[in-house]
Amino acid sequence: MDPWLIIGYTVIIILLFIIAVISSAIWPTLIGAVWIPTPRETARKMLELAKVTSEDIVVDLGSGDGRIIVMAAEEFGATAFGIEADPLRVLWSRTVIRRHGLRDRVKVVWGNFFSKSIAAATVVTVFQGQAINKTLQPKLSTELKPGTRVVSYSFPFEDWDPVETQIKPNLFLYVIG
Ligand SMILES: C[S@@+](CC[C@H](N)C(=O)[O-])C[C@H]1O[C@@H](n2cnc3c(N)ncnc32)[C@H](O)[C@@H]1O
Repeated sequence: MDPWLIIGYTVIIILLFIIAVISSAIWPTLIGAVWIPTPRETARKMLELAKVTSEDIVVDLGSGDGRIIVMAAEEFGATAFGIEADPLRVLWSRTVIRRHGLRDRVKVVWGNFFSKSIAAATVVTVFQGQAINKTLQPKLSTELKPGTRVVSYSFPFEDWDPVETQIKPNLFLYVIG
């Protein structure tokens, strides 16, 4: 093979790798919380607190490796989708969803949750920071239907009164009025 062709392919592969790493490691930190997975036991408590059933559409904002949406479908019978900015985690979670045979009920949308519709949700799970919760609150108030449950791990929504609070792990349940 022509050595210039080999060099060309190598450069393209390296560039693609750099783009993937940058969009995976940097973009999410500019628009929200970095990836720290919710412990599975806490994820289960979030879904229990929201009383998720097979009637629900669960949306995880910043769905990471997909553990909450997979659990919502597998253990609670819900339909679920996640919105995740990190392309590598989107690929990973889609693989997990396929492996669990849940492609008909669980999806992951790649992108910024601030610019995606969440109006279909009946339950929303959130593990972001205090500042992101503050900017997220108007979107949740505007888009979600009355009666939609919102569960936040670690950080409350400052301007709302939770209908239930748990400590260790810190969970806050809200119901849209
Ligand atoms: C603290 S982790 C929580 C992950 C997952 N929800 C869980 O509980 O295991 C936050 C996730 O949100 C993603 N994220 C942050 N800001 C985002 C945004 N504006 N849109 C989509 N995803 C975002 C990050 O890439 C990261 O995976």
